[in-house]
Amino acid sequence: MLLEVRSVTKKFGGLIAISNFSFVLEKGIMTSLIGPNGAGKTTLFNIINGIYPPTSGSIIFDGKDITGLKPNKIARSGIGRTFQTPRLFNEFTTLKNVISAAIYGGGIRDIREAKKRGIELLDFVGLEKKKDVLAKNLLATEKKYLELARALAIRPKLLLLDELFAGLGESDTSNAINLLFKIKNDMGITIFMIEHNIKAVMKISEKVIVIHHGEKIAEGVPKDVAQNPEVIKAYLGEEYA
Ligand SMILES: Nc1ncnc2c1ncn2[C@@H]1O[C@H](COP(=O)(O)OP(=O)(O)OP(=O)(O)O)[C@@H](O)[C@H]1O
Ligand SMILES: [Mg+2]
Repeated sequence: MLLEVRSVTKKFGGLIAISNFSFVLEKGIMTSLIGPNGAGKTTLFNIINGIYPPTSGSIIFDGKDITGLKPNKIARSGIGRTFQTPRLFNEFTTLKNVISAAIYGGGIRDIREAKKRGIELLDFVGLEKKKDVLAKNLLATEKKYLELARALAIRPKLLLLDELFAGLGESDTSNAINLLFKIKNDMGITIFMIEHNIKAVMKISEKVIVIHHGEKIAEGVPKDVAQNPEVIKAYLGEEYA
C-alpha cells in the first residue's frame, strides 16, 4: 500500500468540504477520483500534498505519517502533482521550470545533471523544441505538458494529476494517455488522477473512487462504479452503465 487516507475531514469555516474520507492507493494501480463540480476533489489533493492540513484524520505515505507536513516536505517524500490551473514560473523558460523542480523537489545537486534530466523530460512530453520559450508564452495545452514534466522532475513515487486532460483535444488526450501508461509501466510511478473525461477514466483506470458533497459514495473497478445507482444519480447518468 502506497498511500492511506484515514478518516480525513476538512472544514472551511462552516463548510465541510471533505467528510470522514478514507481510501488506500495500491502501488502501480491506476486510480481515478471522479465526482461533480465542487465535490471536493481538488481539496482532497490539496490535503494529500500539504497545501491544507486536514481538520482531522491522517495521511500515511510509503509507511510514514505525512499529516500536516508542508508541501515542499511532501514533494521531497515522493508525491508530485499537477494543478487544475497550471501554476508555472511564468517568467522562467520551459526548461528552467523543469530544472528548478529537479533541483528543489528532486534533490539533484549538480546543475548539469538537472539540465540533462530537464531535457529528457521535455523530450518525453514533446516540448523539447520549446525549451527556451518563456512559460507564459506557451499554448494552454503546452502548459499542461510542462506541468507534467515538472511534476516528474521531482522523481515522484506517486503522481497526482488534477484534470490533466481538461481542454485537450482528442489527439492530445490520446497522446497524454500514452504518456500516462509510460509513466506507470516504464517509470514505475503510481498515478492518482482527478478527471471529468469519463471515457478516458473508464478506459485507463483500474480503480475509480467517487466523491459527492465531500463524501465517498463508491469505489471499485470502472465497470461496477458505472453501474452503481448512487453514482448514476449523483454524477454519471445512465450513459456509461
Ligand atoms: N480555500 C477554500 N476556502 C473555502 N472554501 C473552499 C476552499 N477550497 C475549496 N473550497 C470549497 O470546497 C468545496 C470543494 O471544492 P473543490 O475545489 O475541492 O471541488 P472540485 O471537486 O475540485 O470541483 P471541480 O470539479 O469544479 O474542480 C467547494 O464548495 C469549494 O468552494
Ligand atoms: Mg477541482
